[in-house]
Amino acid sequence: MLKFYLKRFAIFATILTILINIYTFTYPSLDPENCSWHCFDNSVINAAPIGGSLFEKMNYYIKRYSNDVIKTHWNSETDLVNDKQRVNDIHMMALGDPQIKGVWHNTPYISRLDTFGNDYYLGHIFRTMKKRLSPSHVVVMGDLFSSQWIPDSEFYNRTRRYVDRLFKRDTSLIEEIKGENHEENENLFIVDWHKWADNFNENLNGNRNNFNFGYKDVKSWSDEEDYLFVNLTGNHDVGYSGDATYQHLTRFNTLFGKDNFWIEYDTETDHPWRLVVLNDLLLEGPALQPEFIDYDWEFLKQLVNQNFSGSTILATHVPFYKEEGLCVDPLEVNYYPEGWEKEPYKANLLRSQNHISESVTNKVFDMIFGNGKPGMVLVGHDHEGCEVIYNKFESNNSWVATKEPLADAKYHLQEITVRSMMGEFNGNTGLVSGHFNEDSKLWEWKFTLCPFSIQHVWWASKVTAIITLLAWSTLAVL
Ligand SMILES: *[C@@H]1O[C@H](CO)[C@@H](O)[C@H](O)[C@H]1NC(C)=O
Ligand SMILES: *[C@@H]1O[C@H](CO)[C@@H](O)[C@H](O)[C@H]1NC(C)=O
Ligand SMILES: *[C@@H]1O[C@H](CO)[C@@H](O)[C@H](O)[C@H]1NC(C)=O
Repeated sequence: MLKFYLKRFAIFATILTILINIYTFTYPSLDPENCSWHCFDNSVINAAPIGGSLFEKMNYYIKRYSNDVIKTHWNSETDLVNDKQRVNDIHMMALGDPQIKGVWHNTPYISRLDTFGNDYYLGHIFRTMKKRLSPSHVVVMGDLFSSQWIPDSEFYNRTRRYVDRLFKRDTSLIEEIKGENHEENENLFIVDWHKWADNFNENLNGNRNNFNFGYKDVKSWSDEEDYLFVNLTGNHDVGYSGDATYQHLTRFNTLFGKDNFWIEYDTETDHPWRLVVLNDLLLEGPALQPEFIDYDWEFLKQLVNQNFSGSTILATHVPFYKEEGLCVDPLEVNYYPEGWEKEPYKANLLRSQNHISESVTNKVFDMIFGNGKPGMVLVGHDHEGCEVIYNKFESNNSWVATKEPLADAKYHLQEITVRSMMGEFNGNTGLVSGHFNEDSKLWEWKFTLCPFSIQHVWWASKVTAIITLLAWSTLAVL
């Protein structure tokens, strides 16, 4: 009797496991339009039947799904269109705010397990999408970690998880860095921020060109990789300007690279474009270290001096100014109060901001998108995600955000707030496709968002597999 029911259960569990795992490993194929690079060739669009019968619709979706699965896993000729093009499309994956949490002495085991699983859940999204889409760029939109109030050793431990579990990258580089930066007796990571600060101030007060903000045609940071990996600073990684210290900037720069830089591509051709990475947390004060603000604006000044004539993708963490209600986060700026007893030296400093002020937004956009070429702004911070258009008006020199483009504006700039890749927001991957239009001789940019599912679905794929295995093993010994 028991055997009979157990067998039924095992069969049911097996079917469930197979279904959940098929879903987990092929989820982008259910929504190939949003989970693929945008195809700028209108002739190949195969739209869903409008007004067809239920059977026709089902037939269409099943066919679309299975074709996509076959294409992704067994067909190498996925990029037929690309081969005929003179200029390759740009394929950028943007991942919003992973915010990985830490594990402390007093963290309960269930939370530890949750944090552990979450790393692999995020890693699953990255691996699935990378394998499917072979991006040219991968940009993580800041807030890599969940808190800026952590010691260096914890900052390193999370970096290690970020490198190893989330992005499956080689850990030898950061281990080498740890080898050079650790406490005397213990093997715990600690940064020498004095040295970094000396160097920083030498550059700031001396030859500012030594900041070396600019790169050219960098397609990858290492020979073993065929894509460019970009880390952005978020408020949880380095703090808002009222919090950011040399220690914060030193450890970020040491493990994640520069917080401000640009890469220009194909400047000698008719299709130049650039990626601008900006630490916009340091644009406004009052700051704890006012020289950081000076440094941020120096970066923008040098950027302008490039007289760049191409298209620009700007990637930064905090969204730009817009009227309340266009996106989810309300407009909010906080300062430390006058009598802030915990840290009196922070009184009146910028404590938090969830958007850049209006005047600074106008200034920054003028500096970066002043050449009038089509571009796009990618930001994080507001986990819900959002898309708006900035309309540039020359008459009063302002950039006005709206949901739909305003016809009387001279120039339109799209800002995408990339919806978070965290489980609560369904594990999204943002896809930026860039295409050089040979007729207009301009780049065209298109953004789509590919969601996965809440982390419980990923957990279920593992748990059901274990239960199934247990059920069949029990049956075998009964
Ligand atoms: C970081 O990891 C090391 C090695 O596992 C451990 O000894 C150390 O305590 C961790 N740091 C923190 C702040 O937990
Ligand atoms: C971004 O961070 C990852 C993880 O530490 C690292 O492998 C990569 O080299 C970093 N990028 C740069 C430009 O340093
Ligand atoms: C940009 O233009 C200015 C003024 O014409 C010139 O002084 C500067 O050298 C130019 N910069 C570059 C990088 O060519």
